[in-house]
Amino acid sequence: MSNAGKSKMSMDAQILSALRAAGPGTISGGELAQKLGISRAAIWARIEEMRSLGYDIEATPHLGYRLARAPDVLHADDLLSRLGAVEVIGRDIRVFQQTTSTSDVVEKLARDGVEEGAVVFAESQTRGRGRLGRPWVSPAGKGLWFSVLLRPDIRPQATTQLVVAAAVALTRAIRSQTSCQPEIKWPNDILVGGKKVAGILTELNAELDQVKYVILGIGIDVNLDTGDFPAEVRRSATSLKIETGESWDRAALAAAVLRELDQAYTRIKTGQFAVLAEEWERQCVTLNRRVAVRSGAQVIHGRAESLDSEGALLVRTQHGRLEQVIGGDVTLEK
Ligand code: BTN
Repeated sequence: MSNAGKSKMSMDAQILSALRAAGPGTISGGELAQKLGISRAAIWARIEEMRSLGYDIEATPHLGYRLARAPDVLHADDLLSRLGAVEVIGRDIRVFQQTTSTSDVVEKLARDGVEEGAVVFAESQTRGRGRLGRPWVSPAGKGLWFSVLLRPDIRPQATTQLVVAAAVALTRAIRSQTSCQPEIKWPNDILVGGKKVAGILTELNAELDQVKYVILGIGIDVNLDTGDFPAEVRRSATSLKIETGESWDRAALAAAVLRELDQAYTRIKTGQFAVLAEEWERQCVTLNRRVAVRSGAQVIHGRAESLDSEGALLVRTQHGRLEQVIGGDVTLEK
């Protein structure tokens, strides 16, 4: 059954939606009051509260309210209002000023039995983590650091499908919201200008044959400056701001990513992974290249040929065997 439109939007989210729908025009207090079923005085009180959070909402006598500018902060109501109706991902959004890792928060939600689709953002993380135990730098107000709770009906091996879906969603959203041309490096890196701007970390709780839940963690380096990155990653990491010389609207990008993720997840659920895989393959810098895949002490050298139906990378080794790679660290070779 579709959950589209079912997310319980708070008053503030509904007011912001109505203001956004009015675009450069205004919406009267009376109209807002009628839409939301509350008094004009209550609308005024909510507007004052939003102003105190940095929303620049103009009030013109006889005409009404206009949203002149939203602040560069992540606000759950604002994100819900930008997102609108979704099937699963983003029907519950929570924003923290600081967490250890948003994936820790989602893990707790998962154990508490929260429905899939919940998304947790943090303005900063004190112990953000990347793949292979690497730390993930997450300075306040500069990026998008968030985790999504999913409860897909898939085998543990098919979790790679979710990484493929997330990578496609990220490239689509970055392309639509910025002037960047992102590429994908298998399995989880989004590159701009050959350097990493975003990463995906999936952590799962599974039985032998069945996934119980997946925590999909996504980090996007939006407005970081070179000095925000530790010296050891400066050669390989970048941000959308460094690549373009412009700062980008984090909330707009966040909403676009969630919308794309929701659509991609729906495709997986309805048996249309092949559509995502095709789009992924078109943008992938890893395919048809010589690669080295390191997994623990093991290294496979070969040519990356394609993705299989579960999202694994198929690598033809120098001995002619086709190896299915589901994890590890891939480097591109000459
Ligand atoms: C990688 O490329 O190594 C994956 C990076 C994933 C980072 C994100 S930021 C939000 C979520 N919380 C974490 O601690 N990690 C992920």
